[in-house]
Amino acid sequence: MIENQLDEVKLSVPSKPEYVGVVRLTLSAIASRIGFDVEKIEDMKVAVAEACTNAIMHGCRCAKDSKFNIDFVSNGEKLTISVYDDGKGCELESIQDPNLNEPKEGGLGIFIIKSLMDQVDIESEEGKGMMIKMIKYLGDDI
Ligand SMILES: Nc1ncnc2c1ncn2[C@@H]1O[C@H](COP(=O)(O)OP(=O)(O)O)[C@@H](O)[C@H]1O
Ligand SMILES: [Mg+2]
Repeated sequence: MIENQLDEVKLSVPSKPEYVGVVRLTLSAIASRIGFDVEKIEDMKVAVAEACTNAIMHGCRCAKDSKFNIDFVSNGEKLTISVYDDGKGCELESIQDPNLNEPKEGGLGIFIIKSLMDQVDIESEEGKGMMIKMIKYLGDDI
């Protein structure tokens, strides 16, 4: 028997807000199939919706047929979700944690993603899109 076999699902969806729900539903189905509990699935749904919204709002070149991608990879102990676009990207240094003592609208998406997921990696270069890779472990939080 092959141990830790990788199951992979790839989506390519139009850069339109109405498709965020499609990605959330797909995530729910995959995560419950793997055996995640409802609480972790809800956390992942919020995190993935934020990443998709960013890909649509900030990562789209605004071409009519613009798309972005979501990869789901599971290996029996964790689910890795990568959301990536080929939009304008940004300098990672310019993304700062919000000052929670001085709340303002916006600028919370990545902060929320980092607080809900177990591990988050962001790669981006100006002009070369962005990739946000998020991991949730099936077992107790590490
Ligand atoms: N996919 C993306 N492509 C380019 N820039 C991005 C992307 N995602 C996030 N960013 C940059 O990171 C910043 C912080 O994102 P976020 O925390 O979600 O806040 P908000 O979306 O409300 O501005 C954005 O304002 C944007 O400059
Ligand atoms: Mg955002």
